[in-house]
Amino acid sequence: MTNCQAKHIVIGISGGIAAYKTLTLIRLFKKAGCEVKVVATRNALEFVTPLTIETLSQNKLCSDLFETGFEHSVQHIAMSEWADCLVIAPATANLIGKMAHGIADDALTTLFLAFKKPIFVAPAMNHDMYRNPGVQENIEILKRRYKDLHFIETRTGALACGTEGDGRMEEPENIFNLVCSSFHQGGDLENVNILVSAGPTYEAIDPVRFIGNHSSGQMGIAIADEMADNGANVCLVCGPTHLTCHNSNVSRINVSSAIEMRKHCVENAQNANIIIMAAAVADYRPAVVASQKIKKSDENLNIELTKNPDILLELGRNKKENQFVVGFALESENEIENAKVKLHNKNLDFIVLNSVNNPKAGFNKPTNQVTIIDKDGIVLQGKAKSKEDVAKDIVNLIIKRYNNMFK
Ligand code: PMT
Repeated sequence: MTNCQAKHIVIGISGGIAAYKTLTLIRLFKKAGCEVKVVATRNALEFVTPLTIETLSQNKLCSDLFETGFEHSVQHIAMSEWADCLVIAPATANLIGKMAHGIADDALTTLFLAFKKPIFVAPAMNHDMYRNPGVQENIEILKRRYKDLHFIETRTGALACGTEGDGRMEEPENIFNLVCSSFHQGGDLENVNILVSAGPTYEAIDPVRFIGNHSSGQMGIAIADEMADNGANVCLVCGPTHLTCHNSNVSRINVSSAIEMRKHCVENAQNANIIIMAAAVADYRPAVVASQKIKKSDENLNIELTKNPDILLELGRNKKENQFVVGFALESENEIENAKVKLHNKNLDFIVLNSVNNPKAGFNKPTNQVTIIDKDGIVLQGKAKSKEDVAKDIVNLIIKRYNNMFK
């Protein structure tokens, strides 16, 4: 039995050649025991026929807002209430543009505006169209605006126009698996205690100055939110940042220095089942904190630094039975080897590697690109994605591994 069984799926099809693959997607959902209804644009029906769609879905196709003969007269509203999720595959540049700008001039775009549940969007188009700044901007608008809208990354390969590049729609089997696994969430982590650290630490020099770093806290906060969305009890120990959590169930402890972060992490690790250290903890702090503001007198000012405790090292070495510990590694050279050394030395179950050299990864950026490594090697080589989507990948992997090991 799949997680999809008995779910109500609306599949939206827009006018691209990949529409032929959507027929396989309909079959996969039907085979899994779902109810499927299809909404297609006029252009989509240049590529696939109503007869095929209706035969496979075993439901009447909706392609015209004004068509009669449906059970309910206001089809787009009735469908948005009926459905558990909307899967738009393929999503053309035109459709994505309309969705980003609130245009509703046919059955599919009208349904999209009325839809309040999870939406999966699988773009498909020529490589240059996909990379066009207008299209990318529209994708970013949608990602920012809708928390429950998930873009399914395109693939690289041969395109229908005869060229090579990214822009190919993800394979139907993978779209199906992704949608199914989303139904698996929300409760997977009930009664599981998670400790997450996020953000930078500030190491005081005097009452007005500190040594810090560029961490915004976004990556760790996205992980804490995602864990809480999955039903876990989450304790977030967070360095200085203006960012907030969207899930009000995250219990947050704000700290400033590494010493403070250590204290709260060690305390909360006692009954944590899963620990994830995404914070950028300063390795050194001033040996002495001046009690008054340091005056500008000499040409040079030397500040003696002393080593901070390595919180993750301590947590990993004291790992309890049934505890799962995940560290991050921010590397600039020999990245995989260095991450593996940290995984081993700190006794971790996973290490999440991100690179300082990658313009789409690391500190203070909306995106990240991670490689997840365990003791046997690389478990996931991710693409550059929003930090929220990266958090989903990380959390899904942790849940799977944690459940395999301890449940
Ligand atoms: O906050 P954002 O702007 O979203 O950026 C996210 C991020 C880049 C901060 C995040 O993805 C990340 O990589 N965090 C870890 C950064 C880091 O300190 O890496 P590291 O390789 O120096 O440390 C390895 C691990 O040891 C980390 O899990 C770190 O939390 C931990 N550590 C490090 C030093 C220390 N004294 N105590 C620790 O616990």
